[in-house]
Amino acid sequence: MITVKNAEQIELMKISGKIVGDTLKLLGEKLRPGMSAKELDKIAYDYITSQGAKPSFLGYSGYPASLCVSINNMVVHGIPTNKMIIEEGDIVSLDVGAVKNGYHGDAARTFAVGKITDVDQKLIDVCKESFFKGIAVVKDGVRLGDIGSAIQTYVEANGFSVVRELVGHGIGTDMHEQPDVPNYGTAGRGLRMRAGMAIAIEPMINVGHWKVKQLSDGWGIVTADGSHSAHYENTIIITAEGCEITTL
Ligand code: MF3
Ligand code: CO
Repeated sequence: MITVKNAEQIELMKISGKIVGDTLKLLGEKLRPGMSAKELDKIAYDYITSQGAKPSFLGYSGYPASLCVSINNMVVHGIPTNKMIIEEGDIVSLDVGAVKNGYHGDAARTFAVGKITDVDQKLIDVCKESFFKGIAVVKDGVRLGDIGSAIQTYVEANGFSVVRELVGHGIGTDMHEQPDVPNYGTAGRGLRMRAGMAIAIEPMINVGHWKVKQLSDGWGIVTADGSHSAHYENTIIITAEGCEITTL
């Protein structure tokens, strides 16, 4: 079932969304070479709980942290540990969710640590831009294929690939609701979205091939070819004329 949020519920989604957006901003400011991923996780946990919210990821299907930290060739769902050390030249994807008043926000960014390669910088930029290409077509009546096609077309025109096995999702009182929101597709196809529906759009893009594989910890997803990957996500609410982003 896809839920349509009323005005009051949308206000609650904006409250959770702001906490998530502010958490990512704080993490971006704190990110330094030599830090462990576990320290970032603690910053996220402390900030979210200080806002009277709960980290959405903690305990989700047994996930042991508040934050996902995915470095370089890791696409998503990296479990932050003490051994995972951020190094100069890394690209670090941080994904976080928070729930307050029963409503979730979910967002991700990829950050550069110090000086990175031109290709990695382009990867980060194209990933973020592709999200904005995707939301540019969003309004009441948009089809999921319209969104996916806008993202995929932009990413591939820039020489990168779109991960297929992982997709965006509906969001609200659950972190993951219907429908799946692929970052690829055919314009004019797929489900029609209506004003008041909330989705997380989250392109994951690779320098090389789109294929991914799972690590033995059961969570971490890395590129199959070892190439670098970027992630950019926001929670949005569809409106008559466009959308509102809750997590910026
Ligand atoms: N944030 C991810 C998403 O965008 C979900 C993370 S899985 C978790 O859908 F277990 F870490 F929560
Ligand atoms: Co998400």
